[in-house]
Amino acid sequence: MSAMQSRGYQSGFGNEFASEAIAGALPQGQNSPQRVAHGLYAEQLSGTAFTAPRHTNRRSWLYRIRPAAVHEPFQPLAHAAFHNRFDEAPATPNQLRWDPLPLPSGPVDFVDGLTTLAGNGGAAEQAGIGIHLYSANRSMQGRFFYDADGELLIVPQLGSLRLATELGVLEIEPQEIAVIPRGVRFRVELLGDQARGYVCENFGALLRLPDLGPIGSNCLANARDFLIPHAAYEDVDGAFELIAKFQGALWSAKIDHSPLDVVAWHGNYAPYKYDLRHFNTIGSISYDHPDPSIFTVLTSPSDTAGTANIDFAIFPPRWLVAQHTFRPPWFHRNVASEFMGLITGVYDAKAEGFLPGGASLHNCMSGHGPDAATFEKASVADLSKPDVIGGTMAFMFETRRVIRPTQQALASPQLQDNYYECWQGIRKHFEPSQA
Ligand SMILES: [Fe+2]
Repeated sequence: MSAMQSRGYQSGFGNEFASEAIAGALPQGQNSPQRVAHGLYAEQLSGTAFTAPRHTNRRSWLYRIRPAAVHEPFQPLAHAAFHNRFDEAPATPNQLRWDPLPLPSGPVDFVDGLTTLAGNGGAAEQAGIGIHLYSANRSMQGRFFYDADGELLIVPQLGSLRLATELGVLEIEPQEIAVIPRGVRFRVELLGDQARGYVCENFGALLRLPDLGPIGSNCLANARDFLIPHAAYEDVDGAFELIAKFQGALWSAKIDHSPLDVVAWHGNYAPYKYDLRHFNTIGSISYDHPDPSIFTVLTSPSDTAGTANIDFAIFPPRWLVAQHTFRPPWFHRNVASEFMGLITGVYDAKAEGFLPGGASLHNCMSGHGPDAATFEKASVADLSKPDVIGGTMAFMFETRRVIRPTQQALASPQLQDNYYECWQGIRKHFEPSQA
């Protein structure tokens, strides 16, 4: 099968986009004419309720070679490691940390290489998230995937990916992210020999840019830096497989053509990518730290104002200039639960043990913060000079619900049984007679 190539990008967030791979394919002045140009079928893809408020309403019109309905019946598809069973093991208040997943030895594609680490809620509740890791060494061949349970936020840590979707092609490398909307069919191709990264499956409200309040109309992730593909299609017949994720389980159907056959589309429900290095980071220029919500790239709101289903935040390179301040992230406990991953470099709260491709989990009210070595160093650091944190990119999935590790995550050889020791060296400095 010939791989679809990227045709460049449109930019913006949640705008009305329009793109056609063949001139004249898009109907003018209406969505569903009696006959679409070039013999295409018109099909609406709705990502929110028909009657969702206008500012949150997402749908696109696709003009395609065959409608999405054309395939054989789905049959259950077994997958040992990719699921939404978040109640198999007791949730734990322990701080947890994992080493990176090993890369596969035999041939493994993106779907086969998914492993569920943790999650909460589920598709039936339309709330919560699944947290998955992927580790793959070959492109999906003759198979396509869609997730009916949630949108997929893909965070590569190793290797670049080409995401060939119904609405066009996104190419991403580590330090870029992509979001594949719920229901959009796609194929993951590897642009190198190996690929590894993280996936957040969002069962709740669609990810959006956070409100900026007093920050104003710019900064954090700017809307113009979000890139949306142009229409690209393949007109290929053959014996292919369409894999659906539906209510936590996988299903497989035979399909006799590529479902990536959308020749033109318009609308505001589309895959997008974003380069995390474009994030405009804000921090203190006097003393203390803003809360880490200042690093929010995207947020999925819940039905409680200001309390996200999931916030996706990053810890990018930045200057630390705060005076008479402990500059690394402080010790804290949080009503929310925090899953962290590291894309590259070193995270400034940990001297060692948190590796690129690894992960940590600090659940609701579990104490955490800098390790002993980081505390000792930072508490006597010379604050007359700024510190620069360079060459790093960590991220966090922060959720209002406790994040429940899966049985396989707790049994994983990558789970570090000595993580708690990073705080055991923290010494008592208390001396009542000293200032
Ligand atoms: Fe934290």
